[in-house]
Amino acid sequence: MPFGLSAQQSQAPKQDQSARETDIEGGTMFATSCGFCHENGGRAAGKGPKLAGTARSDDFIVERIKKGKPGAMPAFGGAFSESQIMAILAYIRSLEE
Ligand code: HEC
Repeated sequence: MPFGLSAQQSQAPKQDQSARETDIEGGTMFATSCGFCHENGGRAAGKGPKLAGTARSDDFIVERIKKGKPGAMPAFGGAFSESQIMAILAYIRSLEE
């Protein structure tokens, strides 16, 4: 029974310190900056397309984040560092379709 009590208990108080070594959490940045248009954490289409399972290359995604698309998506090249953009890319890649 995968959704039973034991699963909940094992999730409860454990704090993941390693996730805080850096200040970059792809999912959090995505929720804050991208989720408005790429809905459900990028899993569904909104104003912007669904990103989960995208066939686009890493280069394409990084360029799109940096430069945006005039009239459609703002450019984030000035808002995020290179490593922050990498973390967002990793988050997009981690999405289940
Ligand atoms: C104001 C709404 C908006 C915001 C905010 C936004 N996007 Fe977009 N995004 C779009 C739209 C609209 C498109 C489709 C553009 C087009 O026509 O190619 C798009 C396209 C993309 C694509 C290319 C998808 C594809 O396969 O063509 C990626 C990757 C992407 N966005 C990532 C992001 C990320 C990451 C963020 C946050 C840093 C973000 N977007 C924030 C509206 C937005």
